[in-house]
Amino acid sequence: MAGIADPCFIQKIDIHIESFNKNDQDLEDDTQELLGDQESLKTEPDFSIEFLQSGKKVKWDNRYRSILEFAEGNDIEISSGCLFGDCGTCLTEIKKGDVRYLHQTLITADKGKCLPCSCIPISNVVLNV
Ligand code: FES
Repeated sequence: MAGIADPCFIQKIDIHIESFNKNDQDLEDDTQELLGDQESLKTEPDFSIEFLQSGKKVKWDNRYRSILEFAEGNDIEISSGCLFGDCGTCLTEIKKGDVRYLHQTLITADKGKCLPCSCIPISNVVLNV
């Protein structure tokens, strides 16, 4: 008969399980929510981004991986640091339009702002930069 001295004896109350990771289904759901409809990313959208302070309005090009990369490609400067949504340096006010994030970011932009390093436009967008 097993007893306390027996190392194989484990009572139910001795077992504690903590999990800090999401399961695969949760991660898949989060990824789907972030990426949305992938087919819409493959087609060439007819969006433009207007950079108010720079005085430039440029047609979005899907070959760019983020609004920040797009801005740099069009000689528009946006302050940046981590390039992955973790530092908040690129935080920019959205005057008009919507963006979609392509990955989970550490920083969450308030409503009316975005992290250009980590998102792309999903409509015509006007940024205060
Ligand atoms: S560059 Fe760090 S959050 Fe955009």
